[in-house]
Amino acid sequence: MTQGIKRALISAPGKVILFGEHAVVHKKLAVAASLGLRTYLHLEENDTGKCRLHLPDVDIDLTWALSDLTLDVDRVTLETGHPMDIPEEIKKQFEKWMGVTQREAQRQAVLAFLYLFFVLKTDKPTSFGFTISTRSTLPVGAGLGSSASFATCISTALLVLFHHIPVGFAQSEKRESHLDTVNRYAYKAEQVIHGNPSGLDNSVCTFGGALSFRRGERFVPLEGFQSLQLLLTNTKVPRSTSALVAGVTAKKEKYPQVIDPILESIDNISLRCCEAFKRSNKDSLAEELEDLVDMNHCLLHALGVSHGSLEKVRSVTGEYGVKTKLTGAGGGGCALSIIRDDVNVETTNLVAQKLAAEGFDCYRTSLGGSGVNAVVLDNSLDQAWLMSADRETLEMHAT
Ligand code: PMV
Repeated sequence: MTQGIKRALISAPGKVILFGEHAVVHKKLAVAASLGLRTYLHLEENDTGKCRLHLPDVDIDLTWALSDLTLDVDRVTLETGHPMDIPEEIKKQFEKWMGVTQREAQRQAVLAFLYLFFVLKTDKPTSFGFTISTRSTLPVGAGLGSSASFATCISTALLVLFHHIPVGFAQSEKRESHLDTVNRYAYKAEQVIHGNPSGLDNSVCTFGGALSFRRGERFVPLEGFQSLQLLLTNTKVPRSTSALVAGVTAKKEKYPQVIDPILESIDNISLRCCEAFKRSNKDSLAEELEDLVDMNHCLLHALGVSHGSLEKVRSVTGEYGVKTKLTGAGGGGCALSIIRDDVNVETTNLVAQKLAAEGFDCYRTSLGGSGVNAVVLDNSLDQAWLMSADRETLEMHAT
C-alpha cells in the first residue's frame, strides 16, 4: 500500500451461472453474471514482522513470522506452469506452514494464499507485517463462486500490499490492465483450489457484470446487460461437481443422438439470452428470460443433474408464478429464481418463507454487481467491524 494507507477493504462479488452449465464443458455457450453477494477482505499493514491469515468462514486463524516464510526458489520457477506442478520439497514446506489444517476447504484456501504470497512478495523492512481477514456473505461450496471471489480478493490484497497495483486500481486510467493482472493471479489461486477451472468464475468475480463464455475462448461482456432481481435458494444438499460432470459425459457417450441435441439446445438458450439483452426491451426481456430459465432447467433435468430438492424449489416458486432453474453443477446446491419487476415484495417474502420452511436458505440479491474493488479505510473501521457489520453496511463501504 502507498505510504499513509494502513487499512483497506477489498471486495469481490460471487457469481451465478444463468444458462449453459454442463453444456459449457462440451464447448457450448454459457452465460454467467456477478451477484450482489460479496466476499470482503480487510487488509491491515502493521509493524509486527508477522503475517496473520484470518478466514473465519473456513475456521482458519494462522500467524507466521515473516522471517520464517522463505523459500529456496525464484519467483519465475514458481509462477511458470500450473501452480501445483511445483517441486515436491516446496509442496512439503507449504504443508509444514499449514500445520494441522485438516479440511479440504481450509487446506486449499491457505495453499492459495501461500502460493500467491511467494509469487507476489517484494523486499520489505524486517518490521513489516500485515493481517488479512475475510468475511463472505456467500454460502461456501454452493456453486455461487465463493472460492473465486476469495481468490480474487486475496490476489488483489497481495498485489496492492506489494505495490504491483495501486489501491485505487478500479478508478485508475489503467483500470482494465490492473483488472487483467488481478484476474491472472485470481485464476492461479483458482487453479490451486480447483485444479483445472475454466476461468469463468474468476473473470466474473474480477470484472463484474455479465459475460458469455465458450471454453477455450476469451469471455465476452454481455451487450445491453441490465440488472435483475433474483432469489437464490441453497438446498444445502451436498454434491460433487466432478461426479455430475462425469455423469453427463457418460450419458453423452452412451446416447450421443439424444444428448448432443440437448447440449445444442442449451447452446441456443445461451445465444438467445445474449440476443434478448442486446434488444434491451425490459418487458419482453423478463418474459423471454423466464421461458429460457424453464427450458434450460428441463433440459438439465433430462441430462440427469436435477435433484428432488431442486424440483421442490421449482414447485414452491411455481405456485406463485416464479420461474426457477438449478444453477451450477446441480444434484442439490443452488437454484435461481427470476423475480420480475411486477412481482411485489409480499409475494417474494411469502415464497422465501415457504422455501425456508422446507429447510432451504434463501438469498435475495441483484444480478450484475460491480467487480473487484478496494477502498482505503479510516481507523474506526477495523477487523472487528468487518466481522460484525451487516450486509448493507458492508456493501455501503465497499463500493
Ligand atoms: O457449481 P459450480 O459453480 O462449480 O458450476 C459447475 C459448472 C459446470 O458447468 C457443471 C462445470 C464447469 O466446469 O463448467
